[in-house]
Amino acid sequence: MGEVTQSLAKTLLDLALDIAKSTSELLVDKRPVDMKVESKSSPVDLVTEMDKAAERHIVQRIKEVRPNDSFLGEEGTAQAPENPSNVRWIIDPIDGTVNYFYNHPYWAISIGIEIDGEIQAGVVAAPLLHETFYAHKNGGSFVLHDQKLMQLKANSGTKIEKALIGTGFGYDVEIRKKQGAVLHEMVAIARDVRRAGAASLDFCYVAAGRLDAYYEFGLYPWDFAAGSIIASEAGARVGGIDQKPIGEKWSLCSNADLFDELDVLITSLKNKYF
Ligand code: IPD
Repeated sequence: MGEVTQSLAKTLLDLALDIAKSTSELLVDKRPVDMKVESKSSPVDLVTEMDKAAERHIVQRIKEVRPNDSFLGEEGTAQAPENPSNVRWIIDPIDGTVNYFYNHPYWAISIGIEIDGEIQAGVVAAPLLHETFYAHKNGGSFVLHDQKLMQLKANSGTKIEKALIGTGFGYDVEIRKKQGAVLHEMVAIARDVRRAGAASLDFCYVAAGRLDAYYEFGLYPWDFAAGSIIASEAGARVGGIDQKPIGEKWSLCSNADLFDELDVLITSLKNKYF
């Protein structure tokens, strides 16, 4: 990566950190007691009025200073300006909407920054956990917990039997049944399994060594854009399974030593159940 791109990534990361802060305030301070909620792709796939308000806020703040950037947002923002720059923002205003709806603290604002078609920086902010994870390419990965800044380092050297594995489920009931079948086998092999409810944060937990790995079928770019750079800058390996790229149906984020072993296992479970 050239110096110009690296310096742009750093500048945009600072902007994303500032926007994540104001969005956190919006989502925490203005959280309505009686929240308006609608279903999206299925009855269990929720979007709240606050998902929409937060995405509007993020896009508006970016456009004030970067009018020629493009967007891909979970709540529908996919704007390409007339003279597009080489920057695209990939946004999930609330990753973990179901948790946010229930006031369960495991949700996050996820902002990924793509430059020339490659994710170069990202922020995942979890206001109720008092944590903001961030990284830019070749700059390391960090978490700010209240006022304390720590560099992140993924685990190494674990075997599946000694690994704590995270996963998640999509919203389509037929897919969920298959994900359940895979989980049924995984839980008998791994040390244990967690389903916390916000994929972007799960990637950050792999980065922080709080999980050894995370896998899921059916993630979208806004679920993993920011988390993937945070995890890889912490030394984790991020990709798809069965030699496919991330997001082409399967996503795997793992401590680097464990990746291949999990790839083989999940590929065999995919072939059995999907
Ligand atoms: C969801 C969460 C969840 C994952 C789902 C995602 P959303 O995002 O990240 O943990 O399992 O696949 O769709 O809908 O809350 O933004």
